[in-house]
Amino acid sequence: MRSSFALGLLASALTLTATAAFDCKKAQVAGHMYDLSPLAREIALDTNTTTPPTLTGTRYTLNPCAALKAEPDSVPAIDRCPEGAWVCRSVTNYKKDEKPRVTEVNAVAGKSSKDEPTLEAKASGSETPAEFHWILKGAEVEKVAWSTDIKFVCNKNAKDQDLPKVVEFKDGVLSLEWSVPAACALGSGDDKPPGNGDKDKDGSKEPIGSSGGGFFSTLFTLFVVVSTLYLVLGVMYNYLIVRASGLDLIPNRAFWREFPYLCSDFAQHVWGMVSGHRRGGYSVV
Ligand SMILES: *[C@@H]1O[C@H](CO)[C@@H](O)[C@H](O)[C@H]1NC(C)=O
Repeated sequence: MRSSFALGLLASALTLTATAAFDCKKAQVAGHMYDLSPLAREIALDTNTTTPPTLTGTRYTLNPCAALKAEPDSVPAIDRCPEGAWVCRSVTNYKKDEKPRVTEVNAVAGKSSKDEPTLEAKASGSETPAEFHWILKGAEVEKVAWSTDIKFVCNKNAKDQDLPKVVEFKDGVLSLEWSVPAACALGSGDDKPPGNGDKDKDGSKEPIGSSGGGFFSTLFTLFVVVSTLYLVLGVMYNYLIVRASGLDLIPNRAFWREFPYLCSDFAQHVWGMVSGHRRGGYSVV
């Protein structure tokens, strides 16, 4: 009973340390909120180029809000995107009267289930960013680190169903441009042109708040985890080895009983020193 409670406590402490998953519904860029969830779907972008005597088709598959789903078994394992990919690039070669052949397939963004994109506003200045970038590293191919950079542009006249444009795939970087209403900041005054929003926030290259927090929240989480571990291991030790029960299960109970008195002693001591100094200082005058 007790140990299962302790384990529960430990589990919840560990969950606290895991960073929140990338949330398309509450994406944050330079202090502004965006809802990218209308774009959450798998999209395929195809281009064909003639490469006599064959035809070469390049396909980019992507979902801005989650890693791609595993491909069906009908696709040979060797032709599938690596697991954990958010953006996949595959090249198929077509030759007259022959079966199409997949000649390249790899992740341009995301290479494990832990990978998540970051959102950055690259333009300087303190206005509501009219555009921002979605960036995620992918596989390493021939010593070149691949990555994807989707430039999101706020466009209220477009539709969220519109597809992104492939700008280029150069030096391992796939650049896309996506002009959609979902790329407009939330609550920045609906019909104001971009750039007239609230001017309270600065921060031109701030990673998204998916992991939020910062130094103090990390410190706090660490403190919680360490305290919980101390408590849990202490209770387990007392229970299993010392065979204590009841309140005696609390680790170092005697010390903690004294702790308030120690604190008040310490505070009194410090207060005595500080006020003593003051008095001394004034008495000279
Ligand atoms: C590219 O070529 C293949 C083979 O001819 C064809 O099946 C496919 O529909 C073409 N895709 C585009 C986008 O033109």
